[in-house]
Amino acid sequence: MNRIELKAMAQVEQERQAKFRCRILCCMSTPCISSGASKILAAFADAITAEGLAAEVEAATSGCMGPCSRGPMVTIKNRGEADVIYERVTPEMVAPILNRHVRGQTVPSLDARILSHDIPFFAKQEKVVLAGSGDIDPERLESCVAAGGYEALGQVLREMTPSDVCVEILRSGLRGRGGAGYPTGFKWQRVQKATGDRKYVVANGDEGDPGAYMDRTLMESDPHRVLEGMAVAGYAVGADRGYIYVRREYPLAAKRLEKAITQAERAGLLGNRALDSPFNFRIDIRMGAGAFVCGEETALMQSIMGRRGQPVPRPPYPAQQGLWGAPTLINNVETFGNVAMIINRGAEWYAGLGTEKSKGTKIFALAGKTVNTGLIEVPMGITLREIVYDIGGGIQDGRAFKAAQTGGPSGGCIPADNLDTPMDYEALAALGSIMGSGGLIVMDDTSCMPDVARFFMAFCMDESCGKCGPCRGGTVQMHRILTRITEGAATMKDLENLEELCGMVKDTSLCGLGQTAPNPILSTLRFFRDEYEVHIRDHHCPAGVCRFDNAVSRAI
Ligand SMILES: Cc1cc2nc3c(=O)[nH]c(=O)nc-3n(C[C@H](O)[C@H](O)[C@H](O)COP(=O)(O)O)c2cc1C
Ligand code: SF4
Ligand code: SF4
Ligand code: FES
Repeated sequence: MNRIELKAMAQVEQERQAKFRCRILCCMSTPCISSGASKILAAFADAITAEGLAAEVEAATSGCMGPCSRGPMVTIKNRGEADVIYERVTPEMVAPILNRHVRGQTVPSLDARILSHDIPFFAKQEKVVLAGSGDIDPERLESCVAAGGYEALGQVLREMTPSDVCVEILRSGLRGRGGAGYPTGFKWQRVQKATGDRKYVVANGDEGDPGAYMDRTLMESDPHRVLEGMAVAGYAVGADRGYIYVRREYPLAAKRLEKAITQAERAGLLGNRALDSPFNFRIDIRMGAGAFVCGEETALMQSIMGRRGQPVPRPPYPAQQGLWGAPTLINNVETFGNVAMIINRGAEWYAGLGTEKSKGTKIFALAGKTVNTGLIEVPMGITLREIVYDIGGGIQDGRAFKAAQTGGPSGGCIPADNLDTPMDYEALAALGSIMGSGGLIVMDDTSCMPDVARFFMAFCMDESCGKCGPCRGGTVQMHRILTRITEGAATMKDLENLEELCGMVKDTSLCGLGQTAPNPILSTLRFFRDEYEVHIRDHHCPAGVCRFDNAVSRAI
């Protein structure tokens, strides 16, 4: 397929869609499927056939629309009208929805299930990476192409040199979305300049943070966007082979990626002579077994090569010696998800979003005690207050905001005094937290901070690969002390030891898992030290979470 044929495919699909007076998009991503979306899609399809509406009404699969806890979600696209979004759709609502939107009847009983476009949950978001999510059918290449898919690849292959592409990404200010925020353009340039007969591109879709599902959603909702970003990267760095690493707990993401790869190869968009150019690029999926440490880039590459998924020391960095000793570019799937938009709309446009040093948007999995939870994409620099109170709709039951946890087991807490913190790499780091990959857990006054720290430490202890002593033993010791604190069996000396251990594990662990494992403790100690002390001294948990059945009756 060449660029003209790509345009033709887009046009045919646009015309096909335009023929329908009403298009009913049913979210078929994991959270909505788990709340019954498959039945809803089938019920719409059956009703359309049974009522002879197939020529003017279509029921289609779509990806995630955002308010995942309110699923199944359905969007009605009626020609010439504003979209209408329904939440918590049941099979009983199918006939009334058709009556209202196809037959023009008034059905007031449906009003309570409509989510207005103007509510801050939608209005304060900025969809760049998720622009197609909730709109296109992730299982149909034509649907993705009709929304501009593979245009960016066509453009770089015909109009830009590999160096131009690296410079464009650098100028956009895009930084890695996997957690650390390393400038993506620099990384691409390093791989491009590295010498090697063969080079590789790897997309990191491991997503091990508990509660996070940004990457899964992107892969499920718009797989071609990730593939296109990888192909653009392959061209830019001189690689002809890509791997996308997905954990086994994400079977739907893997299935849609697999389907997308097959469709794109058959259409000549990937594989040999992509888009009728001399560029060859094959992508394969590698499934991980779900170990957190396998998200760490060196462990991930070991795993791809069929070895035990354990980190190895850097340098050499993957850009110099990665897969099978060859220069390898590794980026997070959300990082790749930004690439096509940067090429399509230009680096200047992208750099206009966000803050001075943190450009673009970030996807967060908003979870915890806000009224609205779900998947959101916001411009960098939006304040935590806007996320919690506007997008999130405030705290459930009118309770008080206590803290927000960002960055999962490697991150930290932001307390109420810092609600006006802009969500960007620098501001979060200044507070001892990290942007992380996008986990955002909002807590109210029923959350106990030593207990939260213990939860994350238990996670790191279980997930430590055991290769190096400080992390293998240190996480166990830190977890023991936190357990004693939450059971009322700790002393002030334990707190001192805990802080010392945090410093030691941070400074001496081999990989990021151990180096950042103490962060949830350090951060909660920084802002909520009194809570630790009151647990130890008074055997009292202000949040009412901890039980002191094993309390030792000595206050020191
Ligand atoms: C313990 C650990 C787990 C990680 N898990 C992930 C992950 O699930 N996804 C990811 O993209 N990066 C993860 N990273 C970061 C990667 O090592 C790497 O920095 C990243 O994939 C680079 O992509 P980026 O530059 O686009 O952010 C993890 C790092 C550590 C230390
Ligand atoms: S201290 Fe433990 S990990 Fe180290 S060699 Fe002995 S048994 Fe093995
Ligand atoms: S820091 Fe922990 S996870 Fe990383 S290599 Fe050492 S033991 Fe393994
Ligand atoms: S999964 Fe359906 S709205 Fe997110």
